[in-house]
Amino acid sequence: MSLNVAVLGATGAVGAEFLQLFDRRDFPLGELRLLASPRSEGTRLRGHRVEAVTPDSFRGVDVAFFSAGASRSREYWPHAQAADTVVIDNSSAFRMDPQVPLVVPEINFDDVKPETQLIANPNCTAAILLMATRPLMDLGRVTRIILSTYQSASGAGAQAMAELETSTRAVLNGESFTPSALPHPYAFNLFSHNTAIGPDGANEEERKVAEECRKVLGRPDLGFNVTCVRVPVLRAHSLSVTLEFDGPAPTLSLARDAIDAFPGSKLVDDRGANHFPMPIEASGAEDVLVGRLRHDPSNPNALCLFACGDQLLKGAALNAVQIAECMIKAGYLKTRARS
Ligand code: A2P
Repeated sequence: MSLNVAVLGATGAVGAEFLQLFDRRDFPLGELRLLASPRSEGTRLRGHRVEAVTPDSFRGVDVAFFSAGASRSREYWPHAQAADTVVIDNSSAFRMDPQVPLVVPEINFDDVKPETQLIANPNCTAAILLMATRPLMDLGRVTRIILSTYQSASGAGAQAMAELETSTRAVLNGESFTPSALPHPYAFNLFSHNTAIGPDGANEEERKVAEECRKVLGRPDLGFNVTCVRVPVLRAHSLSVTLEFDGPAPTLSLARDAIDAFPGSKLVDDRGANHFPMPIEASGAEDVLVGRLRHDPSNPNALCLFACGDQLLKGAALNAVQIAECMIKAGYLKTRARS
């Protein structure tokens, strides 16, 4: 079986990862349609011509990966739906829609049904947090998560990644630099996440992480206290996490074993060598790295950890491709296949 595939947002930071993943994971590709804005029409990516997306772009497409922002997802989903195309959407457009499953395949693929045509891919920070913490939720009932993030440029798109490189070079050369992709100087700096602040003082990213994790886990009661910060790292997010349980926290040895056994999470926890998860080692890796496991000396019910995950992979393109792979395995995509 081979599937006709479209990538909307193919020229973006996440889009580029899809093309590599299709090769690396031997995705059963039939025709591949690369879609972006009219600005990119005619450019070539890995030998494929990029087309400007139109309402007709999904005709004959079995599965489309959307990664061009929420407004494009809202605009083109009805056209994909009319073409009977399955859409895996990487934007925030549909994540909290009760009709749309929000899926991390290792955790809740069961939320996808044979007739599901639209699946949402979680926010990158939520996906990485879920991969690091879900294994520990089998060891006791977690009541609250305290999270601080150290988020990379890739989460803000290809232009932000370029701005980090260009502004770092400018600072080192003693030149002045005016940021345009991001609101604040990024080189040798960090700042509160660049999403809008709500009336409660939380920014949009902080709200998304809490809401989306509750939905994926089916735990509307789970407490969150989240602080999201953008740091000058190119492409992997880092998280400092405290999990509070409703009783004594699990032992470190049980916690280590649970992380080791969970597919997609990798234990990096070498106290002797002071070697713990680092974004540079998570970049390009499919696994989320988890370590610095320790108890909280001020709370016997709490367990602390540090995690790093590639924002462009498990935080975006990889999770989306894994959803499609699980749908193929379950026979849900095959039923729509045309070729
Ligand atoms: P383009 O490169 O033609 O602007 P990133 O998040 O890395 O900035 O990527 C955004 C992606 O969304 C790019 O592929 C970009 O294409 C695409 N995009 C942005 N605006 C539109 C639009 N109006 N229609 C289709 N694709 C768009």
